[in-house]
Formats: sequence, C-alpha cells, structure tokens
Amino acid sequence: MTKITFVQPDGSSIDTEGENGATVMETAIMNAIPGIVAECGGACTCATCHVYVDDAWADTVGGPSSMEEDMLDFAFDVRENSRLSCQIRVKDELDGLVVHVPTRQG
Ligand code: FES
Repeated sequence: MTKITFVQPDGSSIDTEGENGATVMETAIMNAIPGIVAECGGACTCATCHVYVDDAWADTVGGPSSMEEDMLDFAFDVRENSRLSCQIRVKDELDGLVVHVPTRQG
C-alpha cells in the first residue's frame, strides 16, 4: 500500500492508503475525498479528477500525456503542477505522495 495525502482547499488533509496499480483518482473515490468527482470513471474524458501535485513530488510524478494535457484545458484553474488524478498510477515510488484538491472541478 502506498500512502497518499489529499490536501483540501482549506488546508486540512486526509491520509489514504492507495493500492499499487490503482489510480490516485480511484484511491480518492474509495476514501470519499471531497472535491474529486471523476464523472467519467477514469477514461480521461471529464477533467473532474483534477489535482495539483505537491511541488516536492512534481518530478517523481512527471507531467501529463498529450491526451491528458488536452483534457486539462477543460479543468478549472489549471497550473503548472496540474494533473488528472485518474492518469496517475499508484506505485511504491509514490509512497508519501501529496496532492492538492482544487477549490472546484470543471
Ligand atoms: Fe474523468 Fe479523470 S476521471 S478525466
């Protein structure tokens, strides 16, 4: 299991355990993280699973694919560290990952 922390817009945080091979979005949904909607269920067609990867983790997580980048155009308040959480696969290297939930989706 891989620890993933979701930081809410008010600064509060929720620690979760993600299953390797699942996605960060699926981890959020399993743990009922507020602010992660994931309307399309992970097909990279809704942009409602948008998160900001914590600066300390940006290099490890890496950037979006071109398909994800296109979809991010539909997300709210996109920043340099924006990712769609359904496109981040949980793995050992991400143990301790911190992502920030935007103030709203879409
Ligand atoms: Fe729809 Fe990620 S869940 S794009």
